[in-house]
Amino acid sequence: MTQEMRTRGSKLATAIAGTAGLFVFLTLLAMPGYGQGLAGRWAAQGRTLDNGEQQKSILELKQDGNQLTGKVKTLGFSVEVKGTATGNHFELFVPEWEQQKPFLVGDLVDGELHVVENGRRNLIAKPAAADEDIPEVPYIEPPSLHNVPYNGLAKTPPMGWNSWNLFAGRIDDQTVRTMADALVSSGMRDAGYIYLNIDDTWEGVRDAQGNIQSNHKFPDMKALADYVHSKGLKLGIYSGPGPRTCAGYPASYGHEEQDAKTFAAWGIDYLKYDWCSASRVYKNEYLQPVYQKMGDALQSTGRPIVYSLCEYGLNSVEKWGPEVGGNLWRTTGDIRDEWSSMIGNVEKQVPTAPYAGPGRWNDPDMLEIGNGHMTDDEYRTHMSLWALVASPLLAGNDIRTMSPVTKSILLNKDVIAIDQDPLGKQASPVKNGDMETWVKPLADGGVAVGVINLGPAAAQATINASDLHLSGKVKKAKDVWADKDVKFTGGAYAATVPSHGVLLLRVSAK
Ligand code: GLA
Repeated sequence: MTQEMRTRGSKLATAIAGTAGLFVFLTLLAMPGYGQGLAGRWAAQGRTLDNGEQQKSILELKQDGNQLTGKVKTLGFSVEVKGTATGNHFELFVPEWEQQKPFLVGDLVDGELHVVENGRRNLIAKPAAADEDIPEVPYIEPPSLHNVPYNGLAKTPPMGWNSWNLFAGRIDDQTVRTMADALVSSGMRDAGYIYLNIDDTWEGVRDAQGNIQSNHKFPDMKALADYVHSKGLKLGIYSGPGPRTCAGYPASYGHEEQDAKTFAAWGIDYLKYDWCSASRVYKNEYLQPVYQKMGDALQSTGRPIVYSLCEYGLNSVEKWGPEVGGNLWRTTGDIRDEWSSMIGNVEKQVPTAPYAGPGRWNDPDMLEIGNGHMTDDEYRTHMSLWALVASPLLAGNDIRTMSPVTKSILLNKDVIAIDQDPLGKQASPVKNGDMETWVKPLADGGVAVGVINLGPAAAQATINASDLHLSGKVKKAKDVWADKDVKFTGGAYAATVPSHGVLLLRVSAK
């Protein structure tokens, strides 16, 4: 090869490279997300259902300088978004939701949007194909209000086990069966824990008639219910009023009656009904009629099914929960296996106290006892507080492999009796420095009194008989965790309580 040939060759190579570069540049310009900053149509893939159907969200964005406008669409809802871009970073709000925090925050990285939804869920959105879109789900008007009669269930707070806190998406038929066995062999069933509740992620797809089927993890829900019933237990299930559950599986929107019938036919005894994606379809003012719809549907099946509302305490649910046929309702966000979350949830119960009673319970969420991130003292406090506020007792740990301490906490008969007291009163707290005293009136005229040490060091707790509003003098007092009778002297009882620990007494009156 001559020098001239080499030079011509390299000029040609440069020209080809330049043309290719221009081609790539032009192609990128034509692609959404390039050249126009963040503008374009973006598709984020969601959960793949049993039939291979993949769910998605579409984000349509227009950019004018650093101002962004557009739409987010996913099954069942489509909302306008507005926000700002700072270079490749963006933040988008949904003006109609009036949230303080952005709904979507993210960055443009190598032609993809790396997005965090609601501060929680990570999504990757890629340029959408021209024909890629979301199927329309028609808006269904909520019904007009009426009173759903009381179903006669849950005269005391429901007790049992729920799959979510420990297993989340890993729950399946086999695990539920082994939990049923463990509820019996551990003595929990006989202590009152009779509901075995499957939470989210059991849902399959709907058949041609619209009937919901369980997914591959639950091959035969009716057979599973038969097994659970054969152990003297009851089976609970989970759905929600929106198009999708919190974990992105099909929920009951537009299929309420049909799903209630399916649940009844399977032999379901308890339904947890989670608001989740319904928040994208309905404003909070429609919570009551939307929950009423499933309340009616459950009652028209003729099967006794406990109805558990899960809407995190929105719109003062404690005031109207019974009117929609509800037996219990969450009053808080999700519990975590940590002291601050547990204490935070129970303290949010305070305004709901007057509304609790037989058949109608406030629910500060399920138990974390035995899941490993609190101390034994903290777990005893957790159990004591749930009993004092007459909360449902739904264990959330692995009851097949419980330590003796966890067993002693969940199975303490005196504490369970405080929770299950037929009067159904919810304790309220009085705070004195680091000590918080909760008093719960009991059906026998006595009280349960718990003193929680919120402080960082052991401290003395004093219980004054005059603060207990007893009908007479103290007849008998039992420290239920120490399992021994104690004496009030000079009208008071005092004991040392460890940091984050509890002194819990059952006191009867003369
Ligand atoms: C919500 C509920 C939880 C659980 C999950 C399941 O977060 O509050 O208790 O049911 O959904 O996805």
